[in-house]
Amino acid sequence: MRFHIVTLFPEFFREALSCGLMGKAVESGLVEFSFINPRDFAVDRHRTVDDRPYGGGPGMVMMLGPLRDALSGIERPGPMVLLTPGGEPLSQAMAARLAEGPDVTLICGRYEGIDARLAELFPLVPVSVGDFVLNGGEAAALCLVEAVARLVPGFMGKDESAHEESFSSGLLEYPQYTRPEVFEGLAVPDMLLSGNHARIAAWRREKGLEATLARRPELLPEAGLSARDVEFLRGKKGPGLGRNLYVALVHGPVLDRHGKIGTVSLTNLDVHDIARVSRSYGLGGYFVVTPLDDQRALAEKLTGHWTRGPGRAANPDRAEALALVRIRRGLDEAVEDIAGERGMRPFVVVTSARTEGAGEFTGFARLREQLATRPVLLVLGTGSGLAPEVMCRADGFLPPIRPFDAYNHLSVRSAAAILVDRLLADVY
Ligand SMILES: C[S@@+](CC[C@H](N)C(=O)[O-])C[C@H]1O[C@@H](n2cnc3c(N)ncnc32)[C@H](O)[C@@H]1O
Repeated sequence: MRFHIVTLFPEFFREALSCGLMGKAVESGLVEFSFINPRDFAVDRHRTVDDRPYGGGPGMVMMLGPLRDALSGIERPGPMVLLTPGGEPLSQAMAARLAEGPDVTLICGRYEGIDARLAELFPLVPVSVGDFVLNGGEAAALCLVEAVARLVPGFMGKDESAHEESFSSGLLEYPQYTRPEVFEGLAVPDMLLSGNHARIAAWRREKGLEATLARRPELLPEAGLSARDVEFLRGKKGPGLGRNLYVALVHGPVLDRHGKIGTVSLTNLDVHDIARVSRSYGLGGYFVVTPLDDQRALAEKLTGHWTRGPGRAANPDRAEALALVRIRRGLDEAVEDIAGERGMRPFVVVTSARTEGAGEFTGFARLREQLATRPVLLVLGTGSGLAPEVMCRADGFLPPIRPFDAYNHLSVRSAAAILVDRLLADVY
């Protein structure tokens, strides 16, 4: 496998590529490195490789000429990877594809980056090593080199070590232990001393599943879980952030289809479906808010049927969901309820299908941060949406669902489900 590294600082790589397994792989010729310095292709006597950015702004940009000449001189470049924070995230799957070799070229940026037209001259593959900014592409290139080289057959003592690691199975790796058997009173798990390889393999799978659920749950849907794996994880999730989240469905004051402020009808479907979402995601509660006495009486009758009346025995699951419903006259009552229950006023966040008058949106990540420390009340409106008097009293404003599409007329039940799911980032 040959790595062609285009860098202004070849010396950056010297020590890193000469130690450990990498050093051995270089010695045996299993991996080869060549360094191409764009400065060697500079044409002026100062060997200039950068210039000021068009349009102004701080820093310098790497010029096209020296880079073009550096790249053109590589006889068999293979895929041309440009290390950049704006690229596709480096992954184990990408490393495995690149390890098929026999060549790969890595272009390390410096300063503010590279003149964008380089991508029109060469088929560049932009790759990032994470959502942070390094001084230059060299440290990023080193990450990629290590991830790729160790997958080249023969690089590691035993080839299977690469198959058993984090990400190879789609899961994080199980914990590893070595001698001594007991260290400062901490013993190695008995299972690993049992000598029963089938049971040890099953235990390791379970530990990998647990670790992934705890730290990287977003990997689970792609991890090819078996029914047994799913069974193992059931009930292990813990309450998560859901219990800090409350939903309110406001029937008035809302806008009607002509933009007039009023109260709109209360539907059985909204009460049932949002209650079921609330129970499924383990929310703290679901407030049905309406200023009309007859609507509240109707809602009481409806929920009473399922939680206390004949519906309870007929469908206990439904009773469990509808038990989360609290019927209130106004939003203030819901806020007071939560404050009394949790000892803290909730962060009130409103939603709308429209963007006018929203100011700055509270993103989902920011709201998740709130959820980690305090209750959050997510407010949805029936009719054509919440009245301005409700909107302007909120602490935050969630962006609409699918704001960039021409059509966004979801039912409030669907919107509630989508927002709760996005907010809790509940991928499994
Ligand atoms: C200071 S950075 C330039 C950052 C650039 N102005 C931006 O905001 O995207 C200089 C060089 O470091 C490399 N670099 C920085 N962070 C990186 C990352 N997370 N992944 C890959 N390369 C990175 C790139 O080659 C980049 O051209």
